[in-house]
Amino acid sequence: MPIIHHRIKELRAAVKPYRSQQRVALVPTMGNLHDGHLELVRLAKQHADIVIVSIFVNPTQFGVGEDFDSYPRTLDDDVAKLATVEADYVFAPSIDEMYPVLPPPTLIRAGTITDQLCGQSRPGHFDGVGIVVSKLFNIIQPDIAIFGQKDYQQLAIIKQLVRDLSYPIDIVTAPIVRAVDGLALSSRNQYLSSAERKIAPVLHQELQCLAQQFVDRKHIEQGSDILIAEAGKRITAAGFVIDYLEVKTDQLESLLNNDTAESQTEAQDLIILVAAALGRARLLDNQLVTVNQ
Ligand code: PAF
Repeated sequence: MPIIHHRIKELRAAVKPYRSQQRVALVPTMGNLHDGHLELVRLAKQHADIVIVSIFVNPTQFGVGEDFDSYPRTLDDDVAKLATVEADYVFAPSIDEMYPVLPPPTLIRAGTITDQLCGQSRPGHFDGVGIVVSKLFNIIQPDIAIFGQKDYQQLAIIKQLVRDLSYPIDIVTAPIVRAVDGLALSSRNQYLSSAERKIAPVLHQELQCLAQQFVDRKHIEQGSDILIAEAGKRITAAGFVIDYLEVKTDQLESLLNNDTAESQTEAQDLIILVAAALGRARLLDNQLVTVNQ
């Protein structure tokens, strides 16, 4: 069983002896763990000797009217699942432990990267992610930290944070884990009714369909907008309310610069990103595309 710590001081004392000789990995989570999270732990174990999983539903990254209160808190189940993948430590602090003053007067601003995608519909969300991840980095001082590709904009923002604040931490990207029907695993999938759950894989199917078209550069040059609009119509017809469906070049710089596929004539690989609500659940997904030259 992993050892659980709720206090910063205790966790620091536990991790300190490892720091000089062994590699320490952090897997940050908000709990309610599923197979996708367990894959993050398995990946962490390939890169490090000691794996610490943080479980903290972070209030500063939820907006007014979002699901902070109802977000599922399942610590006992989570710890049991983490035992099956041999995580070493769980850090499960209280809100008071993480935020002696709430909201914290010291802010991390992710900047213009948040003017797009999820940042547009969730103002302040990534500033909240930035501060909690900074705190976790400072508390645990890991050698590596694992983040999932599903939250692609979050991943870009964490890479920006590491670059700008000179954290000596390698960020490792974990591929998206999917159910057999293609739905990307997410704690928020449990908000889906059984009818909605049957519809939900449409998101991945449409991304795959777009990806197949974008493999051929000709289709991009002919106008990715039309193909995206058509896919958007099909997603809406299936019952989703689309927040965004966009194509970007798969580079942190292009997200930072807000580039579109058309603005990169020598474009490298692409990423198609979608966020859409189905009933109560806001679902995210993305698909990388290797474009034929
Ligand atoms: O991706 C998440 O679960 C959260 O945004 C994170 C990185 C654990 C920060 O609260």
